Amino acid sequence: MKYDFDKIINRADTNCVKYDLRKQVFDNPDVLPMWVADMDFETPDFVRKAVIERAEHPVYGYHFKDEPYFQSIAGWLKRRHQWDVPTEWMSYTPGVVCGFTMAVMAFTQPGDEIIIQPPVYPPFHHAVSSHGRKLVYNTLVDRGDSYEINFDQLAEQAKTAKMLILCNPHNPVGRSWTRNELLLLGEICLKNNVLVISDEIHCDLVLPGYKHTPFATLGHQYAMNSITFHAASKTFNLAGLATSTAIVPNETLRKTYIAYVEDMEAHLGNIFGKVSTQAAMTYGDEWLGQLLDYVQGNIDYVAEYLTTHLPKVKFHKPQATYMMWLDFNGYGFSEEELWHKMTQEANLGFNRGKDFGEAGSGFFRINLACPRATVEEAMRRLKSVF
Ligand SMILES: Cc1ncc(COP(=O)(O)O)c(C=O)c1O
Repeated sequence: MKYDFDKIINRADTNCVKYDLRKQVFDNPDVLPMWVADMDFETPDFVRKAVIERAEHPVYGYHFKDEPYFQSIAGWLKRRHQWDVPTEWMSYTPGVVCGFTMAVMAFTQPGDEIIIQPPVYPPFHHAVSSHGRKLVYNTLVDRGDSYEINFDQLAEQAKTAKMLILCNPHNPVGRSWTRNELLLLGEICLKNNVLVISDEIHCDLVLPGYKHTPFATLGHQYAMNSITFHAASKTFNLAGLATSTAIVPNETLRKTYIAYVEDMEAHLGNIFGKVSTQAAMTYGDEWLGQLLDYVQGNIDYVAEYLTTHLPKVKFHKPQATYMMWLDFNGYGFSEEELWHKMTQEANLGFNRGKDFGEAGSGFFRINLACPRATVEEAMRRLKSVF
């Protein structure tokens, strides 16, 4: 079966963050919205079917996640990433951000140092700073053709830190970390007793030619010093259903974590998150293959367009995610001027780079999980202003 990713779907007036909050976020209700990391594609038919079937039952009472649910996730992780995950390592969390924030609360104390690697997804910053923990920035280094980890700095920072929140693969720079890079990071953390929280929500969006390494597959001792978060939400467009999985190989950590989640009354979740995730994890392979090819086509289109028409915009092609991280500093405008030009003159709603940390000043993140026609229109608008 061939899926149609060119189809334009009107998402306006569905209480949709990406479209219906444009006025508040961009001070312009007419920007072409290419910001929030969800997709303008239809959630696949086999997922919608599962949701509709369950919705037909007239009672939506409390429910629980059963063994077949967790087995569907285990099957997916095994097929896609060659990772054997016993189902007893898994537990439900109501979203990855909520999940890693609860890990911050369960395993650190106010005042503790937590390392993150900016530019990085804004909630990494908030999960630490909003709860009285201390942010330590192991800022990624742009080596010209890709972003890399500053391991010397990390080795120093790890001496006093309690936790590191890893974005694997990395949003927004699109790195799919290699096994070697992860080993170096894991070694430093292990040696210094720094717990690794590995956010792997983008792991199924590793692009053709690259391979995801789950942090916990590096070896037994690394797995025992980690908590991984996985979700079908980013990959299959289910973010509104707030469903994700914590994978905790270490039994002691697992007991502490689950007790915390239960104390927060955050362990039950919603019925539709269950049925949609289970369907995606069971039937999603073929659809995902086609999605990744389509997204790669969008990325190639943008790369070619920028190189030809807007060579001052610098970028590295992403290895994972449907985002591109674009550097507009070559134009010499201030951050405020750039924001104004983008949102008020080009009428484009991209994510503002500095929201990912100071290292993102003068950058924009563009979401390419949309029909090609949207991407083409965005490029035309960019060209007309820059
Ligand atoms: C790295 C990363 N983690 C987590 C999330 C959001 O996860 P959730 O909606 O499950 O909280 C996103 C969404 O963009 C993300 O990019």
